[in-house]
Amino acid sequence: MGKVKIDTGMFSYPMPVALLGATVKGKPNFMTVAWFSRVDYQPSRLAVAIGKSHYTTRGVEEHGTFSLNLPARDLVVPVDYVGLHSGEKVDKAAVFDVFYGELETAPMIAQCSLTVECRVIEKVELDVDRLYVGEEVTVYAEEEVLTEGRPDLGKIEPYVLSMPANEYFPVGEAFAKAWRVGREYERGGK
Ligand SMILES: Cc1cc2nc3c(=O)[nH]c(=O)nc-3n(C[C@H](O)[C@H](O)[C@H](O)COP(=O)(O)O)c2cc1C
Repeated sequence: MGKVKIDTGMFSYPMPVALLGATVKGKPNFMTVAWFSRVDYQPSRLAVAIGKSHYTTRGVEEHGTFSLNLPARDLVVPVDYVGLHSGEKVDKAAVFDVFYGELETAPMIAQCSLTVECRVIEKVELDVDRLYVGEEVTVYAEEEVLTEGRPDLGKIEPYVLSMPANEYFPVGEAFAKAWRVGREYERGGK
């Protein structure tokens, strides 16, 4: 078996699914996102790539703020719904229960156990998307998903997206300790 070249865009690495929230025309609007990642350490910063033409993008531009909300698997139906329909055509303000933090213009979702409000500090214009780098202002967590004060993936039950198969997968059990298991290599392990 050898390596074959496949199309770009087929690197279907699992991507966590989240909801991006912004205030558009005075109302909360949410869209599903999978193209986001933490990109800086202290202060902690996140980057998210969203289509320039999306309705939510208008709110991010207007206020310079957005939220990211991590849904559990049991929210998959409304989460997929807000990724199928634009706020331009349907009012998505009532799909989730909303709360606000310090920024006041970054609506967050009460049903999500982990949410963060961000202030935009940088923008990169791409062809279809615009990459926003947001500084984390405040992170909110349900106490019940914390273990020793830290978010516990086993309790949050997030899920990931595969592309281009476009399927949702659960996150499995932890199988090794990061920044630790590699020490076995130094001891002659594999
Ligand atoms: C699973 C999933 C992941 C998505 N990820 C992104 C993404 O990372 N960036 C993006 O611009 N659109 C993404 N979308 C598409 C938007 O969520 C969708 O176009 C949405 O209707 C935009 O809503 P709006 O016009 O109200 O902003 C995704 C959709 C789904 C279903």
